[in-house]
Amino acid sequence: MSIETSEKPVVNRAKFATGLGVLTATLGSAVGLGNIWKFPYLAGSNGGAAFLLVYIVCMLLIGIPVMISELTMGRAARSNAIATMQKLAPKKQPWWLIGAAGVISAFLIMAFYSEVAAWVFAYIFKAIQGGILSTDPEVTTGAFNGLVTNPGSSLIWQWIDLAVVGFIILLGVNKGIEGATKRLMPILLALLILVGVRSITLPGAGEGLEFLFKPDFSKLTAATFLVAMGLAFFKLSVGMGTMITYGSYFRDDQDIPGTAIRVAFSDLAVSLLAGIAIFPAVFAFGYEPNSGPSLLFLTIPSVFASMPLGNFFMVIFFLLTAIASIGAQISLVEVPVAFLEEKFNMSRKMATLTTIIGIALFGSLAALSSSTLADVKVFGMTFFDLFDYTTSNILLPLGGLFIAIFISWVWGYKKIENAISNNGSLSNQRVIKILYWSLLVVTPILITIVLLNGLKIIQ
Ligand code: TRP
Repeated sequence: MSIETSEKPVVNRAKFATGLGVLTATLGSAVGLGNIWKFPYLAGSNGGAAFLLVYIVCMLLIGIPVMISELTMGRAARSNAIATMQKLAPKKQPWWLIGAAGVISAFLIMAFYSEVAAWVFAYIFKAIQGGILSTDPEVTTGAFNGLVTNPGSSLIWQWIDLAVVGFIILLGVNKGIEGATKRLMPILLALLILVGVRSITLPGAGEGLEFLFKPDFSKLTAATFLVAMGLAFFKLSVGMGTMITYGSYFRDDQDIPGTAIRVAFSDLAVSLLAGIAIFPAVFAFGYEPNSGPSLLFLTIPSVFASMPLGNFFMVIFFLLTAIASIGAQISLVEVPVAFLEEKFNMSRKMATLTTIIGIALFGSLAALSSSTLADVKVFGMTFFDLFDYTTSNILLPLGGLFIAIFISWVWGYKKIENAISNNGSLSNQRVIKILYWSLLVVTPILITIVLLNGLKIIQ
């Protein structure tokens, strides 16, 4: 009797836990600074609600189909990004180049992502020391500028972040971190809701909500479309092979389209919460919505300053944000590490050290973009902006374009159908048909038009 009652729930939970485990692991890569830092700053600089709507369209017609493609290909080949392309593509066709581009994208993204994570780390310590909690834009702006214009602290916090990411990978405790992220994500959500409630009850908050939810379509330009599409790739971790690797761990009976849709909408929910926490405060305290990458770091301290136990909550907020960013960074660093291991027969330790040191050296160009190298511009951008812009707005969309073309034109309907329906055992024929036509026609055409138009190649 006692065996029976203790067995039954375990069996049930094991099944449930696997499905949920896959969802939260994939979500662990998707949710990160893209939601908490990037979405608010881009929405702020590109017109708020109208931008949000364009983002949602890009998520539905581009992000989700490409995510399903990557997961499906990874599960079919059960390998890392480059090997997957080699296994699935016809001989002598250079589709592995998509995987190779992914390695470069991961490297470039890490070069600036690790610097934003560095600011988050620095803010944990600033919050512990007290002193940045203020509703005065002059004080919070001064604190942020003091950090980024100091070359020493910009570099050291970046190295600390990279050391943490490297150690976690070297110690082989990625699984542990995934477990921790899973458990901590609900706390981050709860905290975002708390900050959101405080923010929308500030005097003058209405203007911020209007900015985020009442679209003004006159603010849309070709550049806005490109930035919104780039954000969809970035936030969903697609276009460079991260999701191929994750798909390789999926069970055969896992419903891939359903998982991708849930991940995309949960990721959107986190971004919206971040937006609701930030924009009312922007207007209530007199910040500029188009402050750029500094937006989160200026406004959040002001919201906490107007809350009981504000300093305590702010320490927790930046700590949880740092942990979310580490989950995303591990999924990025994994791409070049897997490549070096396979291509050059390196040990895991060597591959990780080489990747982390490479990112630290290259990333210093991004770290010094507001200090020593502030005047060095390439195509009119600092290195930080250049890495940020070229990855989201060029490399990831190109990766997504070729993935969509590969899976629909080269791999073909029959293989997609078999892979996604698990050889017919899952009854999702309708979804597969819609997906197929989207990948064959809609997604590639949309990506091409938005890219060519946004980059001013055609007008
Ligand atoms: N999506 C993550 C975030 O929002 C960043 C990220 C992780 C990513 N892996 C990626 C972006 C792969 C592009 C491609 O923070």
